[in-house]
Amino acid sequence: MLQHPRPTFTYLGHATVRCDLPGGEVVLIDPWVQGNPACPEALRRFDRLDAMLITHAHFDHMGDAIELAKAHRPKIVVANYEICTWLASKGVESCAGMNLGGSQDVLGLKVTMVRADHSSGISDGDRNLYGGLAAGFIVKLPGGFTFYHAGDTALFSDMQLLGDFYRPELAFLPIGDVYTMDPMQAARACRYLGVRRVIPIHWGTFPALTGTPQKLIKALSDQGVNCEVIGLKPGEHW
Ligand code: NI
Ligand code: MN
Repeated sequence: MLQHPRPTFTYLGHATVRCDLPGGEVVLIDPWVQGNPACPEALRRFDRLDAMLITHAHFDHMGDAIELAKAHRPKIVVANYEICTWLASKGVESCAGMNLGGSQDVLGLKVTMVRADHSSGISDGDRNLYGGLAAGFIVKLPGGFTFYHAGDTALFSDMQLLGDFYRPELAFLPIGDVYTMDPMQAARACRYLGVRRVIPIHWGTFPALTGTPQKLIKALSDQGVNCEVIGLKPGEHW
């Protein structure tokens, strides 16, 4: 039986994930590369950028959104309504605002914005603007392969609902602690989501983020959760 080709996921450090689709399009989730101390120098530039998905407004998730959008003119930039309104006011074209529960077509992918327990203030100079609700994304590819990028979030039991409803096979989950879940909570999230594979994000970038993939492996084992940890270092792909 013919299998639909899968995208290549490259971890650019922190929460930034580059998805190279089988057709050659490049989708960037949480565009933070130039100021991202974890991002390898060679991966801070792009030959093309076809779409951006932004989980929330904090600098470590959209710090380069404006520059990258102006340089590459992606076909679509997805974020919540408030962030899109702000980005558009800064000259970003092709903003496609949405909100929790909604879905949009992004280059043939079905992108659903889902809950995250986090904040989303916009830093604009010395002002802090309301940035709507923080979110995660469920992304379904043609052929059905579905993955979840949680953005920044605490553990919440409705992750069970996301698992039941969307059946993601792969999850990108924050494990760093302080601003997000720690590895113990992330292990429970893997159980709730029913994912077979997890790629840890939002760890190691700053000393305060103490969660590690090794701690997640131990937490999964301690909790009896059968889920493979794909411990990518920044620059590695799967
Ligand atoms: Ni955040
Ligand atoms: Mn963050």
